[in-house]
Amino acid sequence: MIGLKKDTALLQQEIRELAQLKNAVILAHYYQYPEIQEVADFVGDSLDLSRKAKKAGNDIIVFAGVKFMAETAKILNPEKKVLLPDLAAGCSLADNCPPGEFKKFVDAHPGHTVVTYINCSAEVKAISDIICTSSNAEQIVNRIPADQPIIFAPDANLGRYVIKQTGRQMVLWNGACVVHEAFSIDKLIQLINAHPQARLVAHPESEEHILKIADFTGSTRKMIDYIKTDDGHTYIVATEVGILHQMQKEAPGKTLLAAPSHEDNTCACSECAFMKVNTLEKLYNCLLHEGPEIKIEPELVKKAVLPLEKMLRWS
Ligand code: 13P
Ligand code: SF4
Repeated sequence: MIGLKKDTALLQQEIRELAQLKNAVILAHYYQYPEIQEVADFVGDSLDLSRKAKKAGNDIIVFAGVKFMAETAKILNPEKKVLLPDLAAGCSLADNCPPGEFKKFVDAHPGHTVVTYINCSAEVKAISDIICTSSNAEQIVNRIPADQPIIFAPDANLGRYVIKQTGRQMVLWNGACVVHEAFSIDKLIQLINAHPQARLVAHPESEEHILKIADFTGSTRKMIDYIKTDDGHTYIVATEVGILHQMQKEAPGKTLLAAPSHEDNTCACSECAFMKVNTLEKLYNCLLHEGPEIKIEPELVKKAVLPLEKMLRWS
């Protein structure tokens, strides 16, 4: 069966049958390929996916997303078997925040509350006070007493956005997402000029000059909700292009244009290469063989769960 190219619909049907047989739930992020989103039990943003993972009553959680998301599911639900179709599904933010370096950074700022974006490793979570997602970052920072100094990591673009929204000064770790830093402001302006009625919606991982001209900034879920309820017709979407699938399903009458990247005119660069290592075939094989499995030392789980649980209580 491995390596065999099957018809998409047949593969999807077999995945559903396997999931039922094994009492598995399939959770998928909006950046996954459409055929994966279609076969999932639930598609969501990082926050909603964490909540679903925590509540899952199934024996197996299959995470069609990236490693930090699957690790979060395991930390919140350690007794479950958590599978990721390809362990190479990393994230530039998590990869550029090594736990050893981060510990030194935290130690160099004594007395600071450490607010860490969920896009980080289990080890980095374990040395954080509270986790946030792009959906609740502002809300979480606002709950921290005004005189309390804060470290925000690892996404400096999101950090700068939260500083602007909350008026709080924060010490930032200098990380960025390769996908959201690849948007070209020049090409974006050309696109806006060609579609003067279009409204720009952007993910807060985008650079400041993009967020400055955005009509709306929010997490993937919030971007979808905005487009669904807003009275406009055409939208330029500055985030990973996979989101257009669910966005178009939920807002069928709207015209959606992907924000252009520096690299080329096909917008391939706004694909997250990490998210896209997962394929329908790998998802099938992962369910069939119950692997690759996410394993985290129980001692690490005990530490990393505390800031995650705090986030869920605070939002
Ligand atoms: P969301 O939490 O908005 O889904 O974002 C996750 C992510 O990785 C953005 O690049
Ligand atoms: Fe990480 Fe960026 Fe990919 Fe999101 S889009 S998973 S932040 S590399």
